[in-house]
Amino acid sequence: MIKNKMLIYGAAGYTGKIIAARAKELGLDFEIAGREQDKIQDLASELEVAYHVFTVEDENGWKTALADKKVLINAAGPFKFTAVQAMTACLRSGVHYLDISAELDTYQLAESMDMKAKEANIQLIAGAGLFVSYDALAVYVAGKVTNPQKLSVGFRHFGGFSRGSVISSKNIADLGILIRKDNEIIVNPHAGPKVFRFVDRKEECLPTPLGGIVLSYRSTKIPNIEEFFSLKLPAAGLPDLNPETLPDGPTAEERGAGRNGLAAEVVGENGELFRAAVDAPSGYTLTPLSVVAVANRILNNDFKIGYQSPGSAYGVSILSDIPDTRLIDITA
Ligand SMILES: NC(=O)c1ccc[n+]([C@@H]2O[C@H](COP(=O)([O-])OP(=O)(O)OC[C@H]3O[C@@H](n4cnc5c(N)ncnc54)[C@H](OP(=O)(O)O)[C@@H]3O)[C@@H](O)[C@H]2O)c1
Repeated sequence: MIKNKMLIYGAAGYTGKIIAARAKELGLDFEIAGREQDKIQDLASELEVAYHVFTVEDENGWKTALADKKVLINAAGPFKFTAVQAMTACLRSGVHYLDISAELDTYQLAESMDMKAKEANIQLIAGAGLFVSYDALAVYVAGKVTNPQKLSVGFRHFGGFSRGSVISSKNIADLGILIRKDNEIIVNPHAGPKVFRFVDRKEECLPTPLGGIVLSYRSTKIPNIEEFFSLKLPAAGLPDLNPETLPDGPTAEERGAGRNGLAAEVVGENGELFRAAVDAPSGYTLTPLSVVAVANRILNNDFKIGYQSPGSAYGVSILSDIPDTRLIDITA
């Protein structure tokens, strides 16, 4: 059987819906899935696509839904509760796996499944949302100095936070300030803020583990990686969250009112320093554009078997598949 379709699981969530709309806009052949009949059925009739209703624990549900698929986008987060089931289903069905997780544990889970992914002949990428342009930037700067030793990345987010992101950010905030030092992930209780040079301005960012310590390490093998975020994580310091009280996420108008920014600097073995930055649409526009760009590559047979990061699979070139996104060298 020729498998040339995509499945989007968690499609009726705030970000899942924007991902599905982007897939529709590009004319991709896809179906949607999720655990709640009403939400999935309504969205499927709106998009005029086939749908599947099953929980992440339902092995037969996965088997049926993935039978004729080439790639899965898992948009159902927190990924702490969905990634292992969805990855395992993809391994069983020989379907390439993508998710939009921002949770470090998900990346490490994907890393631990490298051998299984190779055996199943699939590409396994966790963090194919905001980290696609992030990791492309990391690969770019890494190539600009001799034997890069240290990477620092600042991430400026615009657009507020969706309910799912607020809840998932608790899984990140609870980890403390993690950095990569001499190839190992460690906690750095003494980390302080750092000023980054974005495309349009300088801005101070706060030390925050975002995922590059796993993903950009996979892409660049730089032994020391530190990450910084323009905001406090939304769930940092909060007690248990009540999802009912949180908004779905920013409206299309709110998403269009600002930009996301990335700024990276790398230091080589001789102390040479190189900086570059990315200017991109705001977060909840950028994530769907990014993950669908990666899925589209896979549908066009562009993938690497095994556990991959966005950068190890696609390098800098994927940036040209993400609309309204530019990378520039920062020399001043
Ligand atoms: N880094 C990035 O690029 C990026 C960007 C955006 C979002 N995200 C992440 O993506 C996730 C979703 O965000 P969102 O804004 O779309 O949140 P959301 O509106 O709350 O949607 C979450 C979706 O996941 C489903 N879901 C949650 N837990 C599930 C489970 N255990 N089994 C099956 N389905 C489950 C929900 O189904 P129900 O409706 O049935 O509850 C819903 O469809 C979050 O983890 C967020 O952090 C990451």
